[in-house]
Amino acid sequence: TTNELILAVETSCDETAVAIVRGGKEIISNIVSSQIDTHQRFGGVVPEIASRKHVESITLIMEQALREAGATFRDLSSVAVTQGPGLVGALLVGIVAAKSLAMALDLPLIGTHHIAGHIYANQLVHEMEYPCLALVASGGHTELVVLESEGVFRIIGRTRDDAVGEAYDKVARTLNFPYPGGPYIDRLAQQSEEEFQLPRAWLEPDSYDFSFSGLKSAVLAAINSAKMKGEPLREAALARGFQSSVIDVLVTKSLRAVREVGAKQLLLCGGVAANGGLRAALTERCKEEGITLLIPPMKLCTDNAAMIGAAAHLKWMRGEFTPLDMKAEPGLSL
Ligand code: KG4
Ligand code: ZN
Repeated sequence: TTNELILAVETSCDETAVAIVRGGKEIISNIVSSQIDTHQRFGGVVPEIASRKHVESITLIMEQALREAGATFRDLSSVAVTQGPGLVGALLVGIVAAKSLAMALDLPLIGTHHIAGHIYANQLVHEMEYPCLALVASGGHTELVVLESEGVFRIIGRTRDDAVGEAYDKVARTLNFPYPGGPYIDRLAQQSEEEFQLPRAWLEPDSYDFSFSGLKSAVLAAINSAKMKGEPLREAALARGFQSSVIDVLVTKSLRAVREVGAKQLLLCGGVAANGGLRAALTERCKEEGITLLIPPMKLCTDNAAMIGAAAHLKWMRGEFTPLDMKAEPGLSL
């Protein structure tokens, strides 16, 4: 391994993030500037506003990351940036900043996949062993990814409609919680003794795909029906029923996939990895079945740039650099 210093940039959605990572392991600084306050009053991320906010903060966040690292531009070995997937205008801001830096300092550029970043966040704190299986669960993604070996990804399951975090946020919005509502539903679910019975979308017996929009609609239908009949809402029981359904499907499919692909480890990543119920259920089931479960610390689960630095490090080691005419790829595949 090497001791290279990578400055990594992540602007795919609503956080402006810059990190400095040494040798793919040591996080020297990790700055995440969230725009949530700005988007909250719209009930979700507004792409145009996200881009504008990134423009306002990117150079300041870069300088802050260097300052906190006690480093200067001259100390850097490479510049990494999220190439996609994400909001095109938001991605562009990070890419232009990273390219400019790489060009001015004559450093190699490393374009990185956002999901590879979420997965390799694990590498910052754990030793990954191959083959392994990653459950990527965030506001934009719900995927089961097999890693046969380093940098070789095979998606075996994905959501056919809403991402799991998106379903959480929509249910939360209907119950009048602020955006992003996932944590509120999580808390409410854990407070409830009572559970509203809701369906599970297993899809075809051999499928690793997911579907959460039917479940979300079932929650909305229950809320509307209670309102029409003038009955009490039983919000906590609904939150608990929703969470149980989500967790049941995520855990069952992930464990079946671990066995089927012979994965040595199960990795949980993405913002929904913060979910208390999901963490507890996965931890318990993996213990029962003797499966090694890796979950990065919270700060590395939600969008950040240290994870992009970790993924970029592996490309650095392989000498895989990205041409300076690289473009933002909003639909980039793994
Ligand atoms: O990975 P992330 O920060 O951004 C994306 O790339 O999407 O994930 C954010 C998502 C949001 O939908 C948020 O509601 C959800 O993660 N989330 C949670 C919890 N904490 C964050 N969902 C359920 N339970 C939580 N505790
Ligand atoms: Zn993400």
